[in-house]
Amino acid sequence: MTDKPPLTHLTKSDRDFMSLALHLGRRGLGRVAPNPAVGCVITQQGKIIGRGWTQPGGRPHAETEALSQAGPEAEGAKVYVTLEPCAHQGKTGPCAEALIKAGVSEVHIALKDPDVRVAGRGIEMLEAAGVGVTLYDDDINILATELNTGFLTLQHLKRPMVTLKIATDQNGMMRTPPGHSRQLTGTYAQRRMHLMRAEHDVILVGRGTLEADNPSLNCRLPGLESQSPVPAIATSQTTVLDDYVLSGHPDLMLLNDKSPQNMLEALGQKGFTRVLLEGGPRLAEAFLHDNCVDEIVHFQSPYAFEDTSWPPEQSDLQLMGIENMSSQTKYSLSRVEIWPTDIANTVAVKEDAKDNVFFYSRVKPHFE
Ligand SMILES: NC(=O)c1ccc[n+]([C@@H]2O[C@H](COP(=O)([O-])OP(=O)(O)OC[C@H]3O[C@@H](n4cnc5c(N)ncnc54)[C@H](OP(=O)(O)O)[C@@H]3O)[C@@H](O)[C@H]2O)c1
Repeated sequence: MTDKPPLTHLTKSDRDFMSLALHLGRRGLGRVAPNPAVGCVITQQGKIIGRGWTQPGGRPHAETEALSQAGPEAEGAKVYVTLEPCAHQGKTGPCAEALIKAGVSEVHIALKDPDVRVAGRGIEMLEAAGVGVTLYDDDINILATELNTGFLTLQHLKRPMVTLKIATDQNGMMRTPPGHSRQLTGTYAQRRMHLMRAEHDVILVGRGTLEADNPSLNCRLPGLESQSPVPAIATSQTTVLDDYVLSGHPDLMLLNDKSPQNMLEALGQKGFTRVLLEGGPRLAEAFLHDNCVDEIVHFQSPYAFEDTSWPPEQSDLQLMGIENMSSQTKYSLSRVEIWPTDIANTVAVKEDAKDNVFFYSRVKPHFE
């Protein structure tokens, strides 16, 4: 098989089953580090007979889950998997071997695994056993790369990926004037933000945010509380006063190195693949300056907070150098979400007020 086979033989069903596998894989984000979040669908004559995704902690793998659902029906089946099946002996045998043993006839793979223990060997094992392999190199491959940006960043750069989340008002301020509520966006946008927390391994803020907000940094969506990321604080201090909610957290990490790159390498050594950077503006500026941000998610409130001495001359977006995202070339807008807002207790609400959420990704992944 060549690296880039013509994919003209793929049917709409093939792409639909692979899209489903990508959706299933997403369920593992924030729970499977240092492993990738993989999804797998097994079909027999166009009917789904097995579905699986990487389980919390990274095992069992998606293929194992899907194969155990399919049982003996897997003989002669088609498999759609979002990452090349593993070829190395871990706590259990390699997934490529399990697929061969189950007697599947075809394996569709959205993305090759760069892990040195796999790196094409999963595909070789399958082909050597007479299993037909199709490696995608189109939009599906791009979606699989996006799903696994954290895992791929750790493999290539020895650091986790960083999603910078910022919320601002219409003046580009992440902070609110003294005496005002700190909340910039409404309930729906807040819930969306909590879903992002669930999909990351670590949540990082600077000491300024710890002291200003006394945050708990957990995921408070019903049913997803156990998917809260591990909290981390960037600070030159070595302890956190008992006054803060986070002081009692058993896994709290204090990152004492000022360099964003070093902070991330230390997190990479612990096997984390996805970091949510929740600010504030000074820490965010340092990460942007050192080219350590892979995605930016900007929650924009429809309101402008104003006071006698507010906003300051330089907005927080200006401080971070991202006041005009449309004119810069490193990131491009990949998605926009619009949520109704209800911060009625602090600001006069217009009936049709909306929070906008802008998702920006790197134009070129860092590791290409
Ligand atoms: N709207 C939003 O999205 C959002 C999100 C978070 C926070 N906020 C708001 O932002 C405000 C706090 O922001 P802030 O800028 O004052 O504080 P910050 O960025 O949260 O924290 C700054 C602190 O981070 C530590 N740090 C470690 N490495 C650093 C580096 N390379 N560069 C800069 N700082 C580094 C330093 O702690 P040491 O001094 O201990 O070394 C520094 O004092 C609060 O008002 C909070 O409510 C808003």
